[in-house]
Amino acid sequence: MCGIIGYVGTKDAYPVLIDGLKRLEYRGYDSSGVGIIPEGSQKSLVLRKTHGKIANLQDLVKSKPIPIGHTGVSHTRWATHGAPNQVNAHPHSNNDGTITLVHNGIIENYEVLKERLKKKGHKFKSDTDTEVIVHLISDYYKGDLKAAVQRAIKELHGAFALGVICTDHPDLLVAARIGSPLIIGLGKNENFIASDVPAILQHTKRVIYLKDGEMAALTKDGVEVFKFDGRKVRPKVDRVTFTVDAVAKAGYAHFMLKEIHEQPAALRQMLNFRTQNNKVHLEGLGLSEKQIQSLKQIVVIACGTAYHAGMVGKYIIESLARVPVTVDAASEFRYRDPIIGRNTVILAISQSGETADTLAAVREARARGAKIVSICNVIGSSLARESDGILYTHAGPEIGVASTKAYTAQLNMLYLLAVKLGQSRKVIKSKQAADLLRDLKKVPRLYEQVLKDKAAIARVARKNSHWGCFLFLGRNVNYPTALEGALKLKEISYIPAEGYAAGEMKHGPIALIDEYRAVICVATQSDTYDKMISNIQEINSRKGNIIAVATAGDRSIKKHVHHVIYVPKTNNLLTPLLAVLPLQLIAYYIAVKRGCDVDQPRNLAKSVTVE
Ligand code: AGP
Repeated sequence: MCGIIGYVGTKDAYPVLIDGLKRLEYRGYDSSGVGIIPEGSQKSLVLRKTHGKIANLQDLVKSKPIPIGHTGVSHTRWATHGAPNQVNAHPHSNNDGTITLVHNGIIENYEVLKERLKKKGHKFKSDTDTEVIVHLISDYYKGDLKAAVQRAIKELHGAFALGVICTDHPDLLVAARIGSPLIIGLGKNENFIASDVPAILQHTKRVIYLKDGEMAALTKDGVEVFKFDGRKVRPKVDRVTFTVDAVAKAGYAHFMLKEIHEQPAALRQMLNFRTQNNKVHLEGLGLSEKQIQSLKQIVVIACGTAYHAGMVGKYIIESLARVPVTVDAASEFRYRDPIIGRNTVILAISQSGETADTLAAVREARARGAKIVSICNVIGSSLARESDGILYTHAGPEIGVASTKAYTAQLNMLYLLAVKLGQSRKVIKSKQAADLLRDLKKVPRLYEQVLKDKAAIARVARKNSHWGCFLFLGRNVNYPTALEGALKLKEISYIPAEGYAAGEMKHGPIALIDEYRAVICVATQSDTYDKMISNIQEINSRKGNIIAVATAGDRSIKKHVHHVIYVPKTNNLLTPLLAVLPLQLIAYYIAVKRGCDVDQPRNLAKSVTVE
């Protein structure tokens, strides 16, 4: 949660910071602020903070301009401790306003530290955990900012990415991280810190992914990286491969819509890169043929949408590779004393690779001796670094808070993984593998067909945008599709929506159905199609309003439902890839119709880096 960006260089810091902050707004948007050391002054830091979105901060700065300065920090917040208001917004400063900092993370022992510091005369203004850090640094400050930060962070329990500046050192920015992401951007006569690459991409593509337990001292002329104990580190400098366009809306009304449209290209690229002559190449998997053959169990750990991808993974891996798969919400796995047998592999799935619960679950599993393989989108993320094997989805930056292209890229990777495991374990016939890969390669084109006709889906969505409650039903491989459809809708339109295995409907959710409910049924062709039709009839007799997602050519379904959205025919096992696309679009168009903020839904943040 929260996005931070810091700058030290020769340019005016404010435009750099505000532009970077806007590109991080997906990480939190309940308040924001900026702190700058004005040029020529060593006495006073200039702070501007306000509640609400970054546009409010821009308005504030317009009415109360910031003098030119070349060093500064800024922050966009997703509140954990303290209401989202001006006082709790970052940056936070010490009592004489000489040191200021921004923080992403949570300080668990802040109350104890606060009491101690209060007794020493420190005056607190906010309800945040963050404010304690700046007072602690100030307490230890004897003229050396880096040393004071180093001393203070040793006493912090929890997670943090920090950017700290001090008026005594107008050309210095000190950064530190543990548990929350932080990158350093290397420019010419300027250097940056940021929570994520998009914030600095227009200035540089050279980045250092700061590791847990590392801190850095940045001036305009260079960057020094240290361990928390002071030992110098020679950091690896990476080159970011995506462009500024990848993090812009490119003419789309919302990032979510753009990302929905990017799905065919993302899937196509992965398939071209990972398959050749009916073989799947999963370099990075980190499992030998012998380890694959002796696999006894796969435990998927993930959260939210990635968890739904993992659920689809269970169906396809069990079917194609004959390995038992369990799927756990990471937040549950870490607290339930899990049994990790020999030859168990943990498969962690995460778009960001920074989700706190997923990381904690992975660490728990590792402590119990498990091998960790991850499917992740963000290069260099904490999850990627902590895994034995890493399968990058390379779907490009996903900015919309509601995950779309990352989900289908995760599914695509899971199909490839299932085929690879099946081939290595010699349980999938070569014809079956060849047919599946051939059909998988057709999916991007089928996506394009669905997207071409998105106006029809938009019409259905608008006609149904008034319902106060939605039920999503699916069976077998499309049970997770129903869950994902419901999650998308509730995330961005705030309409209560439940996803259910259709066979479970009669055990409870059927009580919800009357003429005021809408039910979205994933009824694509499958072995359980007839059962799905029976469910549809049961809903019909209770006057529910039914939207079906069905396979092209299925005319007979029309007589049972109010609206049908067709997706092209494909292999039964691949239908989750196609069926989710109309559900993403329905959620999108309903949210737009209801005037919701699609890319920045209330109370949410893109990566959940706190528990
Ligand atoms: C998806 O639309 C959500 N915003 C959310 O459920 C997300 O999938 C979840 O927080 C996991 O994130 P991750 O993939 O980055 O770990």
